[in-house]
Amino acid sequence: MHGSRPLKAHRNNRKSTGMRTHDRQSIHGQWSSRLTFIMAATGAAVGLGNIWKFPYLTGIHGGSAFVLVYMLCVAVLGIPMMMAEVMLGRRGRQTPINTMRTLAKEANAGQGWQLIGWFGTLAGVLILSYYSVIGGWTIGYIVHAATGDFSGLSGDGATSLFGDFVGNPWIQVAWHTAFMLITMFIVARGVQSGLEKAVSYLMPALLVLLLVLVGYAMTTGYFMQGLAFLFTPDFSHFSGTSMLTAMGQAFFSLSLGMGTIMVYGSYLPKDISIAGTSVAVALSDTMVALIAGMAIFPIVFANALIPGAGPSLIFETIPVAFGHMAGGTFFGTLFFVLLLIAAWTSSISLIEPAVTMMIEKFNMTRRTAAVWTGLVTWLLGLGTAFSFNVWAEVKMGGLTFFEQIDFLTSNLMLPIGAIGMAIFAGWVMSKHVSREELGMNSAAGYFIWHALIRVIAPIAVSIVLLHAIGLF
Ligand code: PHE
Repeated sequence: MHGSRPLKAHRNNRKSTGMRTHDRQSIHGQWSSRLTFIMAATGAAVGLGNIWKFPYLTGIHGGSAFVLVYMLCVAVLGIPMMMAEVMLGRRGRQTPINTMRTLAKEANAGQGWQLIGWFGTLAGVLILSYYSVIGGWTIGYIVHAATGDFSGLSGDGATSLFGDFVGNPWIQVAWHTAFMLITMFIVARGVQSGLEKAVSYLMPALLVLLLVLVGYAMTTGYFMQGLAFLFTPDFSHFSGTSMLTAMGQAFFSLSLGMGTIMVYGSYLPKDISIAGTSVAVALSDTMVALIAGMAIFPIVFANALIPGAGPSLIFETIPVAFGHMAGGTFFGTLFFVLLLIAAWTSSISLIEPAVTMMIEKFNMTRRTAAVWTGLVTWLLGLGTAFSFNVWAEVKMGGLTFFEQIDFLTSNLMLPIGAIGMAIFAGWVMSKHVSREELGMNSAAGYFIWHALIRVIAPIAVSIVLLHAIGLF
């Protein structure tokens, strides 16, 4: 990103030159190219959600049916929602709260719409609070891998290694703190070209390493069983909650419904196609999740691990695989380094709405904004760090602190945020504006998008939500 202008100059400029509203510039900068945006948005999208969460949720919800519903949600809801969110962001060019306020004013609608921005900003902070703890696990596992702890590890050995690791509250807090520090360090500096460049090498490297793991999974003799688990339709373990979880996971994995993509869209140059980039990001994100599943489940079956193990799943399977591979210490270390990077590029984006909010609303410098948001998020994260040990038995409605925050954000806040954005983009914003901002040449394409965002998305998401909370 480059070129930032002070807020005041930007306001004066608009007044004095009578600049048309859709020529707004973000005070925080702009992506240098289409590819940079795709890289950054993919960096935000591809994270722990794909490699850690998608496989374990698939395991809990019985496999293929979950995968099928997930893919359907990405195609029918995810892609149009991503287009809408990028479009709102680019039109408003500010922090999600101010973007929604400006766009509502432009559409002569009430100021209540800015609640979407507040809600999303809060969701980002809540998600990062636990994301940072899991990000910390990846750092801890880099150390385990590098010191040879995986070599010759059995399934049981991996389970107890992980148990000891999360069972120690001090270790949890230490790695959580480390992850939060590296996140805030980058955020405080602004998302510089260094990160953009780093991501453009590291994401492909992660993909290659995942493919190496798929190669290993093929040698376990359980590859077909893994594939069958992922792709042969079986609805026997599938419930209303599974449906909600699949939908929530689609929003989570694509980073939708909370303003991240809106902020990233606000840095997008005017002449870039929103539809093409959204499809590219959604496809790469889904591909990474599926490849992760293909790498992990054969190893699960080969080592008699349990697919429904939950959040510990990849931390119990990947070490076994590397423990039996030639050069496993090296590749294992590399794998967790890359996973850390994937988590890192997502964590930066999770906090961006809150940081830009503090800058715009309270006139803070980026650094001060980063310190405050980081501190609050870190404190909240302690709840998750302890929910795997000293607070493991402290439950509300049968869920630990971590599970509460995860359910609240992925399954409720993101879908609700997405409904709000869909209604705004489909009903409140005039067709003329959305069409112009999306810049779609194809009338049919625009028609389909508009129908999906105006009717299908709000209805489908509401039905799943209401069903899951037991209203019918
Ligand atoms: N999409 C990220 C992942 O899959 C998580 C995320 C959610 C990032 C929401 C930003 C916003 O890991």
